[in-house]
Amino acid sequence: MIFVTGATGTIGAEVLYLLKTSDQVVRAGIRQPTVAQLAENAIAFDITQPASFGPALAGVERMFLMRPPAVTNVAETLFPLIDAAKASGVHQIVFLSLLGAEKLSFVPHRKVEIYLQHSGIDYTFLRASFFMQNLQTAHGAEIRQRREILVPAGNGKTSFVDGNDIAAVAVRALTEDGHRNQAYDLTGSEALDYPTVAALLSLELGYPIVYRHPSLRSFLSYQRSRGVTAGQALVMAAIYTTARFGMAARVTNDVARLLGRPPQSLQGYLAQHRQAWLD
Ligand SMILES: NC(=O)c1ccc[n+]([C@@H]2O[C@H](COP(=O)([O-])OP(=O)(O)OC[C@H]3O[C@@H](n4cnc5c(N)ncnc54)[C@H](OP(=O)(O)O)[C@@H]3O)[C@@H](O)[C@H]2O)c1
Repeated sequence: MIFVTGATGTIGAEVLYLLKTSDQVVRAGIRQPTVAQLAENAIAFDITQPASFGPALAGVERMFLMRPPAVTNVAETLFPLIDAAKASGVHQIVFLSLLGAEKLSFVPHRKVEIYLQHSGIDYTFLRASFFMQNLQTAHGAEIRQRREILVPAGNGKTSFVDGNDIAAVAVRALTEDGHRNQAYDLTGSEALDYPTVAALLSLELGYPIVYRHPSLRSFLSYQRSRGVTAGQALVMAAIYTTARFGMAARVTNDVARLLGRPPQSLQGYLAQHRQAWLD
């Protein structure tokens, strides 16, 4: 049995889909599962509610673990979940982390990595670069409504990766031998700055999308006005600042090596999903 957290999220939903289509026995952790989801082996699971851990983990051998973006205090949430997993007999955790996490002691992902390394459970870290899907999720509304991308990343380059490539690697790590106690750096095949991303998006959509680099103060107040919590906005600002200083630009071969094919390109991704910005 494989337990998938964040099963309605960008990566978790695809992990769940790929596991199901390859006939794995899976359980999906969802905060408020519908009757239809419960019938498909989902379970009520909330990382802030330790009472939900026991039922979710019963009979589970491996787990796909992600940190929900709004969860900043991992010591009170993910650490107890890892303890419960250990007590319940989970023997491998594939954790969705962040590119460069090993050098970013302030990000919650690194704290979880260190905790996992000391847990005695076999781990696989997926240290992912920025998801191409952010252009649909985090930035979707501003691209559709304001025709702009607003992130404090300056002209720093980012090695954007398709979340579906990350999910495919997660499934390999969960179902094949050879991935225990490994860390993978998952990136696309090129690093692009946001002015180039905006230009590619403009080309795809047929009208201009403008990149604006806000000050940290205006980025934080913009995110707060969208309902993002202060803690989450600060983590976002910190992560975009690392991109600004070139720390998200690293391109690796891990996706191609693990999947046996090149990663999705940003142009390919934009063409495949163009309707998302036109609706
Ligand atoms: N976005 C990027 O570019 C990027 C890059 C590298 C790493 N990461 C990391 O990847 C992770 C996922 O990021 P994302 O932006 O793609 O998020 P996401 O998948 O959209 O996250 C939302 C998921 O978290 C679940 N969730 C929210 N609160 C929960 C709770 N209290 N208990 C259990 N589940 C909860 C949601 O489930 P419900 O349906 O229950 O709401 C949903 O499935 C984050 O840790 C992020 O830092 C992101």
